[in-house]
Amino acid sequence: MKITYTHELPPNKKADALVIGVYEGMKNLTKEEALQLKNLNFSGKVREVVTLPGTENFKTLIYVGLGKKSELKSDTVRLAAAKGVKSAKKVKAKKVVFELFGMDKLKEKAAKAVAEGIVLGNYQFKKYKSGKEEKFEIEKITVAGEKEYEKEFETGYILAEAANFTRDIVNEPGNVVTPEKLAEIAEEISEEYSFKCKVFKEKDLEKNQMVGILTVGRGSKNPPRFIHITYKPKNPKKRIVLVGKGVTFDSGGLNIKPEQFMKTMKSDKAGACAVLGIMKAIGQLKPDVEVHALIPTVENMPDGKAYRPDDIIVYKNGKSVEIHSTDAEGRLILADALIYGSELEPDVMIDMATLTGACVVALGHYTSGLFTEDDKLATALLKLSSETGEKMWRMPLDEDLKEDIKGTYSDLQNVGKTRYGGAITAALFLRNFVDSKKVKSWAHIDIAGPAFLDKEWKYYSAGASGQPVRTIVEFIVES
Ligand code: BES
Ligand code: ZN
Ligand code: ZN
Repeated sequence: MKITYTHELPPNKKADALVIGVYEGMKNLTKEEALQLKNLNFSGKVREVVTLPGTENFKTLIYVGLGKKSELKSDTVRLAAAKGVKSAKKVKAKKVVFELFGMDKLKEKAAKAVAEGIVLGNYQFKKYKSGKEEKFEIEKITVAGEKEYEKEFETGYILAEAANFTRDIVNEPGNVVTPEKLAEIAEEISEEYSFKCKVFKEKDLEKNQMVGILTVGRGSKNPPRFIHITYKPKNPKKRIVLVGKGVTFDSGGLNIKPEQFMKTMKSDKAGACAVLGIMKAIGQLKPDVEVHALIPTVENMPDGKAYRPDDIIVYKNGKSVEIHSTDAEGRLILADALIYGSELEPDVMIDMATLTGACVVALGHYTSGLFTEDDKLATALLKLSSETGEKMWRMPLDEDLKEDIKGTYSDLQNVGKTRYGGAITAALFLRNFVDSKKVKSWAHIDIAGPAFLDKEWKYYSAGASGQPVRTIVEFIVES
């Protein structure tokens, strides 16, 4: 799909469909139009959409509700734009025109949100479908708006395309995207945007004492990798390290998952894929910030060579960990990356991971858990998250739960002594590998809920959501 922005207002190129945003009250419409829509039970409320036969220029008119103008939010604009695209697809419109909406209230933020809504709403993972019907795509979308909004519109386009890039990789199954494949993708985008990219194979992993990655990776015939991408502008104002959990499939290992929990575990690489999507956007937006992307990636499988409960491993920073469950593998591979990331002495280090089912129990499928001791960082991320619609909720790093992950024979155990507070004990575990003398500020985002959706939600189709790509890119650009 091609998207172009035009300053021609009102748009008068011929197209198959025109999408129009309508507030409750329908003041931007003629009396006749408003009456016609009322008869179809459309009043401009949020989530409402109605399709009418159009004029000579536009074969179909698609009206999308924006709700009350006084209550308009960016996410409402995203949702309305997505509804517009989805309706256009339903009527098989090849050329579609959008009239930019929401700027009268939200200014350039609306322009960005319209772009995001269109691009995110248009996304479906149908690479492996062979039916012609299912393959239908809109050919061209033209968005008509004032010149002053064009720049933000383009930013929104870049952000949403980056999120879709993430979704594409997450949605690929474990037989296609292996740790090696993830490394290949990292090398491809590094080539495209002139990043430095180093991929650690077994020998490098050993040299760097990355025992978590080596241990968890041993049970799979697909070898583990560690990926380090660097974006270094001329005069960086800050240095940010990103870490993403890249378990290309999580069977649970010897502590094998039951059937209903193993399915969808191709999504256990969503943190890694988010980091790759973020780098893609960074390559295009080129902020004055040095960014390092770190990806520990493994396949967690049961096997004769697999690691086992009771095993004890000793990390490069000296901490020893006994394995209580081979299904708590994410924190083991993230530990190596956090030790390595600390050595880069960043201003901010943020890790993102589909880390615990407990976080989904706590917050549901639509909200990520945000853990940080830095109030300023928390405030900044939460503010951006409420703007991007990638919902986050701050969770405590409760010192009293530290006892729960204290090992019997070693410093730590990889699972809490009870399952209560499982998202928190996982975060506390990770904190042991962040060197507070070298890292000014650290945040952990547990994306186990929103990373992969079991059904359609807001502008998202079922499957990978590409969260939290847009929030983190905005954070880096604002830094
Ligand atoms: N990848 C899972 C966590 C997960 C669960 C992600 C649901 C997405 C949706 C993780 O590796 C895992 O299995 N965690 C265990 C930890 C337990 C053994 C302490 C869990 O959450 O049950
Ligand atoms: Zn697991
Ligand atoms: Zn996992």
